[in-house]
Parts: sequence; C-alpha cells; structure tokens
Amino acid sequence: MSTRYFDDAWKKTVYCGQVGLKEEGQATVLNGWLRKRRDLGGIIFLEMWDHTGTIQVVFNPEATPEAHEMAKDLRSEFVVAVKGKVRRRPEGTENPNLSTGQWELLAEDLLVLSPSAPLPFEMSEVDRVDENLRLRHRYLDLRRPKMQENLRIRAKAAKFTRDYLMDHGFLEVETPILTKSTPEGARDYLVPSRVNHGEFYALPQSPQLFKQILMVSGCDRYFQIAKCFRDEDLRADRQPEFTQIDIEMSFITETDIIGLLEGYVKGLFGEILSERIETPFLQLTWREAMELYGSDKPDLRIPMRICNLDPVFGEAGFEPFRKILSDGGAVRGLRVPGGGVFSRKEVSDLEERAKALGAKGLASFQLKSGDLKGPLVKTLDEKGIRALLEESGLQEGDALFVAAGDWAATCSMLGTLRLEIASRLELVDRSAWAFLWVRDFPLLEWDDEDGRWSAMHHPFTAPHPEDLPILETDPGRVRSRAYDLVLNGSEIGGGSIRIHDPAVQERVFGVLSFTPEQARERFGFLLEALSYGTPPHGGLALGFDRLVALLCGCRSIREVMAFPKTAKAQCLMSGAPSEVEDKQLRELGVGIREGGKEA
Ligand code: AMO
Repeated sequence: MSTRYFDDAWKKTVYCGQVGLKEEGQATVLNGWLRKRRDLGGIIFLEMWDHTGTIQVVFNPEATPEAHEMAKDLRSEFVVAVKGKVRRRPEGTENPNLSTGQWELLAEDLLVLSPSAPLPFEMSEVDRVDENLRLRHRYLDLRRPKMQENLRIRAKAAKFTRDYLMDHGFLEVETPILTKSTPEGARDYLVPSRVNHGEFYALPQSPQLFKQILMVSGCDRYFQIAKCFRDEDLRADRQPEFTQIDIEMSFITETDIIGLLEGYVKGLFGEILSERIETPFLQLTWREAMELYGSDKPDLRIPMRICNLDPVFGEAGFEPFRKILSDGGAVRGLRVPGGGVFSRKEVSDLEERAKALGAKGLASFQLKSGDLKGPLVKTLDEKGIRALLEESGLQEGDALFVAAGDWAATCSMLGTLRLEIASRLELVDRSAWAFLWVRDFPLLEWDDEDGRWSAMHHPFTAPHPEDLPILETDPGRVRSRAYDLVLNGSEIGGGSIRIHDPAVQERVFGVLSFTPEQARERFGFLLEALSYGTPPHGGLALGFDRLVALLCGCRSIREVMAFPKTAKAQCLMSGAPSEVEDKQLRELGVGIREGGKEA
C-alpha cells in the first residue's frame, strides 16, 4: 500500500482533462477535485476535475474493496489523489459532452488531500446563484470551467498583446502606482504618506503623464499593461481598479495609431477566436456619430439610423417644430423596421420613455397598407409627406419616431431609444463584430455644475490645428485630435495626439480655468518636461477588461477579472475596504470624522 501522505508517488501522471488513448491500460495517478457523485448498484462513480477538464473515476467494491470503502465518505470538492488504471468506458456509457468521455479511471487507491466544508451553493448551479454569493466565495466560482476559460483567454490576450507590441518595436515600461493625481475625469484614490505628514499620493487613473514624459525621454514607443484606479460610479463595464493596454508613440499622426491598432485587433481576434476581422475600420467624426446614431459609441450591429427631418418640418405646418428650428434646434427621426406592429400602448410607452430621457415629446408615424398614420400627418401636405418618406426611408410596416429640440440632446435621446428598441425587437446582429473609430471629438464640454469648460478627454489632448485661433474665443467649437475605438457599442479604447508645445498646453489650461499657479502646482513637472525638447506624440489606451469580456462573450467585465469588486467597490471575499487600527491612523496623521458621509 502507498504512503498516506502526498509524496512523489501520489503526483499526477496526467491532467484529468487530458486522459486519453495514451493512458489506456496504464497505471495512472490523478490529482484534483471531486464533483458529481452517482452510486449505481454498489459502484461509486465520481467526476474528478482540474483546470483541464473532467474524467470519470469508478470505485468498484469487488475489484478494489479498500478504495471503495474509502470512497464512501467522499463529497463534492474534496481534493484527492487517485491511483488506478485507465480503461475504455463500456459501450453505451460514453459521455459525448466530455473530452475524456470515452474513458474512465478504475480506482485502486485513494488519498484524501483535503476535505471540503459543505458548499454554499451547488457547483453545477452557480450560473443561477446570486452574484454576491459567487463573489464572496470567488475561489469556488473560479473553479468553474467557464471562469477558468475566461482567465485563460485573458492571459492569452495579454501574451498576444506583449508579443505584438514588442514585435513592433515597443518598450514595456512600468510607471508608478504611488503618484500624483492625473485627471481622467474621475475621483482619485488617495494614499496618505506617513513620512510626509499631511501629504497624499494618488493612485493613477492612467499612466497618461508618465507615458508622455517617456516620449520626452526619447523612448519612442512605449507600452504597459497598466493597472488604473478610478473612484467613480460603477456599472457592468466599469470597475474601480481595471487594466489598460497603454500605448504612446513619438513622431506620429493619427494614421499610425489607427494602423497599429487595426493590425493588433485583427491579429488578436484571429489568434483567440479564429475570426477574420476586416480592416480598415469605418471612421466617423463625433458629429457624424451623434447625427446618425445619437451616440459617441454607436452600436453598428443595429440596422437603424437617425434621419434629419429639418427640411421636412422647416416647411410643414406644425408650429412647435418650426419654432424649434428657427431657434437653432433640430428635428430628427428614428425609423424602426417592423415598428408598424407597435400597439397604441407600446407607442405611448415610448413617448413616456422619451420624456423620461428629457424630450418634450415624441411624435410617431406608422406606414400601414400604404397609408401614413400618425397625429402629425395632417400637418403635412403631399410634398411634405413625400419628403418625410424620402428622408426617413420609411417602408411598409415600419414606424418612425420624431423628436425636436436641442441638436445634441435630441440625437442622444433617439440614440438611447435606438438601443432599447433594437434590444426589445432583437434587431442586434449578435454574430457581428462591428468596429469603428470615432474621431474629432469636441476638445471641451461645458460643465454646468462648475460653470466652466472641462476637457472631453483629458487636458493634454491636442486641439485641431485649424481650430487653434478660436481656442479662447469660441472654445465649444474647437475640435480635438482625439479618437475612440468602438466595438459593438462599447468604447474599448481612447486616445489622442497630444499637445507637445508648452505654450499651447498653457493656453488649454487657461481655457480650463486653471490659474497659472494651479497649472504649475498640478502639472508643473509636465510643462517643464515639455520645454526640454518634446517630439510630436500621441497614443491610446485600450480597456483590457472590456476587450476580454467581448472576446469571452461576457456581458460584465466582472466575469473576466479574477477578483472584481461590487457596485459599492467592495471585495466581498477579502472584506476590503475595512477599518484600520487607530495606531495606523495616528502614524499617518489621519483622523476619521464622526458622522461618516454626511460630515
Ligand atoms: P480613457 O479614460 O478613455 O483614456 O480610458 C481608456 C479605456 O479604458 C477603459 N476604461 C475602463 N474600464 C473599466 N473600468 C473603468 N472604470 C474604466 N475606465 C476606462 C475604457 C476606455 O476606453 N489616458 C487615456 C488614454 C490616452 O489618451 O492614451 C485614458 O485613460 O475602455
């Protein structure tokens, strides 16, 4: 009999999921976790799992009575080593769902390496259990084949990324985690400094400033698979701590970044999914994306576009629309293929939804049996009706929803309806990979709350050279040299050509209402660095978690992160964040105010 502790003789000779013809008739050792158990006529069948897959193990009371005796106490998720012989399963008992489905191990000896406490949920039903319970016991959740597959795809994608970028002459550089605040639009996570009393580090929202400074240093092409930290409201595609593939290049223009990334995406999808991705990707300006899809990250898998009905209603008899148009507003429509079947109730629900999204109203038309129906039909003459049909492309059996008001607000409201209707009517082509670039974003957006302009991307984004003369006089019209990469309606990356002239950078800080002192205090080191010979440069960061989630077919980036946090930014498994000892706070010179948030 073997030793009763885990020594070399108990080490696996093959992974569970890799048992095959080679092992037939061979003395074999398996290590792994036990799953499903069946007892049939005194024989015990157990599924044994490791990260490669599952194999059936059989304990037969006649052939190996001692092993069978020991197997009686085995339960789910016990870790065991089993010795035995691999044999073909009797005809008719093969399992076509397992890669090892033709084989089984007839157990001769068994060593329990670690028992398992009763499980908080059935492993086979994890899909249906509350996500918080899964997160609390993430180690069990990760023992599922799908989660193992996600981790592996993620690692494979990281390897592909490293290889691709290094093959293209990129240098991998690590930048600090304890650093100074970089503005990417979210709140910072702060770390108090014990040595420098009263002072704080910020965790990087991105390595933005460091990568630009590496260009000043002559690094030419930089990349990093970088952890970023943002204290913002969380959703399915946002985590407080996430990973970017961060890239920066010198002496380049938009064309170089776009070409590099298209090659990367093509290679990555080929490698991981064996998918052929067509390049070059479509490019839309931000204005076009808003105008046609009401979104700066349009989902092109949906066959619906917004149409411009200004020419129709500028001349029609409907006074409210005419007034909006003469005040500089816009009238836009959304054709819904097959929307002619919407009931009155469904149409009025959509009107309510439009109002909830900030619209004054939503007019509807339906084309049924060649007849245009809808409350506004009577305000149109024959020419108007013809124009409406032409501009909207309305077909028999379709509906058209029309709204009027401020251009951006109207387009983006219809953009939201477009997504909601498409999902309800299942108009999204789930088999497609719809990539596009959105370019020429506005440099600035007006922040009503603070009463000042803020950077739409970040303050280091270069303004379009043609718009530099109006930077101070008409900031809202200045276009930036920023671009986003969009896949299936998800923003998977964003970047820009940067400002490399310190004088322009100071002008932009000025428009953003930083006093020269504030600019120097926060970004003095960047301005100083830029003054010592800076190449034109630009780059981009891909949201690695979002990209991997799309590759894995997962809705939430939590599914492709080993230890994600909840919407309240908690790690349910480790219990972070948590209180710390008074002594630690005293050393840091930090006090907690009574009353929590309200204080
Ligand atoms: P940006 O802020 O657009 O740009 O971020 C780049 C990409 O990172 C992903 N991302 C996130 N993923 C998960 N959770 C989050 N909270 C989160 N926030 C952003 C998105 C996004 O497109 N420094 C610039 C890049 C540059 O200009 O080069 C930056 O960080 O997919």
